[in-house]
Amino acid sequence: MNRGFGPALVRSFSDARELAQAAAAYVARQAERALAERDGFRIALAGGSTPKALYAALAEPGILARVAWSRWQIWFSDERVVPAEDAASNYRMAYEALLGRVPIPKGAIHRVQTELGAERAAELYELELGADPCDLVLLGIGDDGHTASLFPGSPALLEDRRRVVAAPSPVAPLERVTFTFRALNEARAVLFLISGATKAERVAEVLSELAADRPLLPASRVRPRGSLCFYLDAAAAARLPAGTPPEEEP
Ligand code: 6PG
Repeated sequence: MNRGFGPALVRSFSDARELAQAAAAYVARQAERALAERDGFRIALAGGSTPKALYAALAEPGILARVAWSRWQIWFSDERVVPAEDAASNYRMAYEALLGRVPIPKGAIHRVQTELGAERAAELYELELGADPCDLVLLGIGDDGHTASLFPGSPALLEDRRRVVAAPSPVAPLERVTFTFRALNEARAVLFLISGATKAERVAEVLSELAADRPLLPASRVRPRGSLCFYLDAAAAARLPAGTPPEEEP
């Protein structure tokens, strides 16, 4: 099922496995497009638990055998300020599910140096990221409508100059480093990956806000200059209004 909600193109899939496979194919298409036009594929990975299945699917030989891993540059759209080996680390989750299983040069994996503390790590990450936009940013949505580590009421929501900042979280780990809306909205493509019934109400709210151009929740303020896609499983799509037929294939 493909539907449009304002700038967002939405596809839903029967279950989490089909969602992960479709999302991996989407990432492969974005990588192939970037590598045909430029010298590398800059992707920012999402944290949390939902992307684990996608990262595992990307590590499967069949999907990306044809993609030059050596030309990927890996970023993180946010990170918890914990040691890299901590179970809460987004870097650790991505390394175990994908980065440690494929031949990406270690120098191409840009970890947030959380051992330096939130403010210093954010400063250095922003310098390392530079001004080139990401070809693809992967994101999730929290139950409160946050995305990356941009939480409702956070001072980071007001940042319009910096691309990476330290930000507070209402849930542990309490200190985060996150892309700002500037970095997210400079992206050539953003893919929200959302799974599970607990997200259904928020997803419907965010897409309704996008359709009405009334961005109240942080996730509704992600309006990349490129494409904006939502890939959902049936449970997360269960509360969606009708939407409109999309103009293009997401
Ligand atoms: C994080 C993520 C965060 C996540 C949502 C959804 O560091 O926690 O960046 O924005 O995407 O909270 O998390 P789940 O996928 O675990 O539901």
